[in-house]
Amino acid sequence: MSRIIVTGGAGRLGRSVVAALAAEGHEVTSLDREALDGLPARQVAVDLLDAGATSAVFSDIRPAAVVHLAAIAVPGALPDPDTYRINTQLVWSVLQASLDAGAEKMLLASSPTVMGYHSPSGWKPDYLPLDEDHPVAPWNGYGASKVAMEQIVQMAVRQHGGRMSFGVFRPCYVIAPEEWAGAPTQQGHTVAERISDPALSAVALFNYVDARDAGAFVAAWVERAADVPNGSTFFVGAPDALCESDTATAIRSFLPAAAGAADQLTGSQSMFSSARAEELLGWRARHLWRDELVRTPDTAGATG
Ligand SMILES: NC(=O)c1ccc[n+]([C@@H]2O[C@H](COP(=O)([O-])OP(=O)(O)OC[C@H]3O[C@@H](n4cnc5c(N)ncnc54)[C@H](O)[C@@H]3O)[C@@H](O)[C@H]2O)c1
Repeated sequence: MSRIIVTGGAGRLGRSVVAALAAEGHEVTSLDREALDGLPARQVAVDLLDAGATSAVFSDIRPAAVVHLAAIAVPGALPDPDTYRINTQLVWSVLQASLDAGAEKMLLASSPTVMGYHSPSGWKPDYLPLDEDHPVAPWNGYGASKVAMEQIVQMAVRQHGGRMSFGVFRPCYVIAPEEWAGAPTQQGHTVAERISDPALSAVALFNYVDARDAGAFVAAWVERAADVPNGSTFFVGAPDALCESDTATAIRSFLPAAAGAADQLTGSQSMFSSARAEELLGWRARHLWRDELVRTPDTAGATG
């Protein structure tokens, strides 16, 4: 059992991360501007952009591990300069507070969007499935902030890797448990609508991960961080694509620029590989859309 801080613990992803860590017996504190009823954690309200206030809370808690999720989490939610400034400032603030408080581990949430898909100037993958060795090519303030964050982590490994373990994960499109039953997703539509209209899912290259699986990944990393190369980056996604047709057909229909690499995928295989997470941490997604989607008369066509 460890004392763990989760920043952004009241968020869409944060609540499942908090639940997974609490279920493992960890003593979890969520640091967030918002509070959430029923979260199995102590909740402290703090603006993490305030470095002084953040450091004071960290010194008080003295966490063994820190999971940094708080961010402007949606591309385009704010103008690019604001998203970049806020997301990078949050990383600096939480990194310094973690170092000062003597934390041993720090895991940060990046995003698959660092790949740069849907760039207005065109994008095509070097190969499929995308893995952590594929070059990044951010084209908006959100993606650029995540690439900067990943570089800050590599910098921190060089400076502090002797005393602290760092990791980065790129969660695919997070689907919370209630969203399988029809609650609106981050974009406002339902999962069933996302499947019946593949253009909606093509925006994220048909990727997804159940929030409970993302939580289980974080718990696995916290458990085994010292056993994997310091600063490792992980894609965290389901092994299948969030669409009814086979993935190559969906790519040819909705992502023609990527069609040249479509044949490198078989069946419903995801465009993203999470093989590294399985090899290094023994993690794989357990909740797949064909099992989880709650079938109603309206969604009967979306059962694959
Ligand atoms: N949801 C996804 O599909 C997805 C996919 C890839 C990456 N991510 C990344 O995962 C992380 C979590 O995403 P999410 O979907 O849960 O986002 P979210 O917006 O639901 O949650 C973010 C939380 O951070 C808090 N927060 C933001 N700024 C803060 C500040 N200055 N001080 C204190 N708290 C602050 C918010 O109050 C919120 O509760 C983000 O870093 C996001 O970029 C999410």
